[in-house]
Amino acid sequence: MAEYLVELYVAQGDHLAAQQHAESAERAGVELTREGRPVRCLSSIYVSEDETCFLLYEADSADLVEEAIQRAGLRHDHISEATSSPLLVAAASAAAHHLMKHPSKRGTTMTVTTDYSELRDKQQKVWSSGDYNRIAHITVPVSEHLVDQAGVMPGNYVLDVATGTGHVALAAARRGAVVHGMDYVPELLDIATRRAAAEDLDIEFVEADAESLPYGDGSFDHVFSAIGVMFAADHAKAASELVRVTRQGGKISIASWTPEGFVGGMLAAVGRHVSPPPGAQPATRWGSEAVVAELLGEGVEDVSSVTASVRQNFRSPEEFADLFLTYYGPTYSAANRLDEEGRAALRADLVALAKAFDQNTGEGIECNWEYRIVTATKR
Ligand SMILES: C[S@@+](CC[C@H](N)C(=O)[O-])C[C@H]1O[C@@H](n2cnc3c(N)ncnc32)[C@H](O)[C@@H]1O
Repeated sequence: MAEYLVELYVAQGDHLAAQQHAESAERAGVELTREGRPVRCLSSIYVSEDETCFLLYEADSADLVEEAIQRAGLRHDHISEATSSPLLVAAASAAAHHLMKHPSKRGTTMTVTTDYSELRDKQQKVWSSGDYNRIAHITVPVSEHLVDQAGVMPGNYVLDVATGTGHVALAAARRGAVVHGMDYVPELLDIATRRAAAEDLDIEFVEADAESLPYGDGSFDHVFSAIGVMFAADHAKAASELVRVTRQGGKISIASWTPEGFVGGMLAAVGRHVSPPPGAQPATRWGSEAVVAELLGEGVEDVSSVTASVRQNFRSPEEFADLFLTYYGPTYSAANRLDEEGRAALRADLVALAKAFDQNTGEGIECNWEYRIVTATKR
C-alpha cells in the first residue's frame, strides 16, 4: 500500500468544517474497506491560515483515494503520493512546502489530530483488557524462533521489548543471557515474574513504555520484540528507541504478524466494525521488511527477514471467535464498543476468517498464522 496526501480547501478559521471533513473521509474509508477496497484515512492536518486541510490516506492506488474523497462528499485540490515517514511528518512537511510557496502566510496555526500520548493510553487500556495470559501461548513458538535465529550466547545482554508474560525473556535467560524485559501492562509483568521465579531464572522486568525505554544508549547485545513493538502508538519513536539501546554491532530482531496473514485479517476485521482511533497506524506495517528498515533508519545495516507461520488449532471456528472475543484485548475491547448486533457481526467475521484459513486437516480447525522476523545490525 502507498500513502497519499489530499489537499482540500477549508475556509480560514473553520476548524469545525475541517474536523467534519476528516470524519467523513475516515467514514468513507471504512465503508470502502468493508466493501473489499481497502483505503484508510490515517490522519489530518488543518492549516487554517492557508485555508487547506491535508488528509493522509493509505491505499493501493490514488483512484481508490479519489473514490473515498468523492464518497465523503469532499472536493479536493490535489492528491499526491506521500513517500516519507513517519506519516505525520510527511503531512507536516507537505504543509510546510505549501507555506513556502506562499511566504505571505507566515504565522500559520495548525491543528494536528494525532495525539500519541492519548493514543498510547487508549492502547495500554486495550492490552490491559480481556485476559491476554489465557491466549499468550500462541506466540511461544514465535518467541523461540526469534531467539534461536539471533544466536543468543551465555552472558549476552538481552532486552525483550513488550515482553507480555515474558516468552522471549524466558527463552533468552534459559540460554544463559543476562535478561531485561519491559511492558506497559503490570498484570502481565507479574505473570512473567512468577514464570521466571518458577524456573529460578534471574530476569529484571520493568513497567515502561516502548517509546521511552528506561535504559542507557548501547546497553544490549540483542534487542528483541515478539509481536510487541508493532503495537506501539508512535512507530517511529519506538523504532528509534530499539536502535538507541542496542550496542554498536548488536542485533535487533523483531517478529510481527503480516498484513496478509491470519492476524492481519483479524485486525482488519476489527477495523471494519470499530474505527481505529485517529492517527493510529496499522500494527501489521511492521510485518514488512521495507517498512521496518525505514523505521529503524540509518542507524542500522544488514537488514534481512524471514517469513514463517505458527500453527493454531481450535475445536471449531466458533471456539476461536469466542476465545478471542473474551480474552484478546483488541477484539475484546472492540466487541465492548459494539451493540449486540455489531458484536454478532464481528463474531461472524471472525468465524468466517477461521474457516477461510482452515487447512481442513480433519478434526477441528487448523490455521497457519503468518509472521515475519526482521533483523538488523546496529552500525
Ligand atoms: C500480543 S502481546 C505480545 C506479548 C509478548 N511479546 C508475547 O509474545 O507473548 C503485545 C504486548 O505488547 C505490549 N505493548 C504494546 N505497546 C506497548 C508499549 N508502547 N510499551 C510497552 N508495551 C507495549 C502489550 O502490553 C502486550 O503485552
